[in-house]
Amino acid sequence: MIARLESDIQEILLTEKEIAEKVKELGERISEDYKDRELVLVGVLRGAFVFLSDLIRHIKIPVCVDFVAISSYGAYTETSGVVKIVKDLDESIEGRHILIVEDIVDTGLTLDYLLRIIRARKPASVRVCALLDKPAKRRVEVDIHYKGFEIPDKFVVGYGLDFNQKYRNLPFVGVLKPDVYAGK
Ligand code: IMP
Ligand code: MG
Repeated sequence: MIARLESDIQEILLTEKEIAEKVKELGERISEDYKDRELVLVGVLRGAFVFLSDLIRHIKIPVCVDFVAISSYGAYTETSGVVKIVKDLDESIEGRHILIVEDIVDTGLTLDYLLRIIRARKPASVRVCALLDKPAKRRVEVDIHYKGFEIPDKFVVGYGLDFNQKYRNLPFVGVLKPDVYAGK
């Protein structure tokens, strides 16, 4: 099963070990920075669920976890910029310290949209933690306070990231072979 998945991968960009080390480092930084505050992690579904679940186990302070799901319409491998919330937060965030946990920031449009919605609800503070930053196609400037890796402008899958809802279960981040999505 995994062999069939892996044969669609052109190149491994980040190994399981590299990711694990980085996630630990980020968790430690977050624990230190928020040691006197109560933190709410907001995971962006679906891509961030793997990253978030590893990250929280390296956070050594009390945290709450909530989720939003955002859909963006567009081509298979690109955001159109038209985004909407398909699942809202369950809890109120007013007066609370919010850390948005994202898998990847590409154009920045998704995060920009989410940040506007979150800020309008008057949290005490908002920061962003993103595992991957793909700055080449950035259209809106967004401040990524906790950043895992900067990557080149390639379509990647694995560690939560999908193509057509698949490949999320790969333990590494890899570049998908273009012929997998060509003709889609
Ligand atoms: P943005 O709005 O262009 O910044 O795109 C953000 C969203 O697009 C991410 O949360 C991902 O769901 C998706 N995305 C962007 N680049 C990739 C990629 O290389 N692989 C998988 N999903 C991606
Ligand atoms: Mg996403």
